Amino acid sequence: MKGPDQAVLISRQKPLKLTATLPGDKSISHRSIMMGSLALGASRVRNFLTSEDCENTAKIFEAMGVRIERKAKDHLVVHGVGLNGLRKPAKTLYCGNSGTTMRLMSGILAAQPFDTRLEGDPSLSGRPMNRAAAPLAQMGARIEGRGEKLTAPLTIRGTKLKGTTYKLPVASAQVKSAALLAGLFAEGSTTVIETVPTRDHTERFFKFTGLPIRKSGTRITVRPGRDPKPFAIEVPGDISSAAFLIAIGLLVPGSRISLKKVLWNPARIGIVKALNRMGASIRPSRLHRQGPEVTADFTVVPRRLKAVTVKPVEVPSLIDELPILMVIATQAKGKSWFHGVEELRVKETDRVASMVDQLKLMGARIGVKGDSVWVEGPTPLKAAPRIKSFGDHRTAMSFIVAGMIADGKTRVEDTACIATSFPNFFDLLKRSGVRLDLVRS
Ligand code: S3P
Repeated sequence: MKGPDQAVLISRQKPLKLTATLPGDKSISHRSIMMGSLALGASRVRNFLTSEDCENTAKIFEAMGVRIERKAKDHLVVHGVGLNGLRKPAKTLYCGNSGTTMRLMSGILAAQPFDTRLEGDPSLSGRPMNRAAAPLAQMGARIEGRGEKLTAPLTIRGTKLKGTTYKLPVASAQVKSAALLAGLFAEGSTTVIETVPTRDHTERFFKFTGLPIRKSGTRITVRPGRDPKPFAIEVPGDISSAAFLIAIGLLVPGSRISLKKVLWNPARIGIVKALNRMGASIRPSRLHRQGPEVTADFTVVPRRLKAVTVKPVEVPSLIDELPILMVIATQAKGKSWFHGVEELRVKETDRVASMVDQLKLMGARIGVKGDSVWVEGPTPLKAAPRIKSFGDHRTAMSFIVAGMIADGKTRVEDTACIATSFPNFFDLLKRSGVRLDLVRS
């Protein structure tokens, strides 16, 4: 995050109308750069997410000799160098706020014939990297970090890796992806066992680029040795960003929000499934194939909502959407339960603490029981004079939406962080008719 920060002043909104496509999905944008760089030849990426997180991934590959041509802001041509073509960077590689960048890059860098150093911002420097390093260490990787959690900065001493079989102890697509990416460079095949399904963008991308990847039950196996084939992709609209606009469509009376070409991957649409159980009636009117993924067009209008129970097995499919889902649950009739949400505590910030404590400030009935969060509704929200984002993009956007249905004027501090995932968030709000004031934090 750069420059002076900005706070948002927001109050109850008149009906909002929007028809829009969304910037590219963050997870898929990262992987487009990674796979494009490892392919041999030119890959074309349209609707790339020009957020700080994804730009950091792009800069890392540029620092290792990959030429990334900008045809337009969100249209790139990645001149991939093949699995053996990365060059030792001259400086430390900066991952900013992005856990995806640091964890997935660890898998690629562990296998290079040179050493690298990875750094992150203060939030990322507090997050556990040992979870991604564990399967890599089993493959022979040498990764050094701080303390038991192996926090950044990381020093990765490139070496030859051996394939392995690794059972994921946490449901994490980032850990799975780090191991599979390392597997491309290893000797022998690499198998990841995943008992709770997580987002499968890496596996889809491998298949899309002609790599030998197989899924059999809970086992995902990749064999090394082949360069990914260059590709062309239009990155699907980010469902995690869409979630905030969906919330507006459901919660602001008289609104109508139509979104086009939004990622419709079963491992990512847990938010839509949960909302439909609550009575949201979100149904795709059209499906499109976009490279390895499918997207959908749909419209959201306000509905009477009832409480929902989210089980631990569903959590990876809506992990990043839990904060906004908690906001929505305050307006649903009955007691909602979100079970097995402990992973939310190790995201960019502890999102259980920030959402529960601050929704209480707005009058919500919400609490924590073990690894579960409950929300009782419907509760009219009241404005809060000082909501903190803690520099977390999803917390900031969740409370801006909460402010749209609260009585009075809510102030949300430190919202520049929204650029890490949704750079045109404010433009789209403005286009839909939202009135808010941006002031210095
Ligand atoms: C991501 C996986 C998820 C998610 C993150 C992006 C990815 O993290 O929360 O925003 O792109 O693989 P975990 O896999 O660590 O749960």
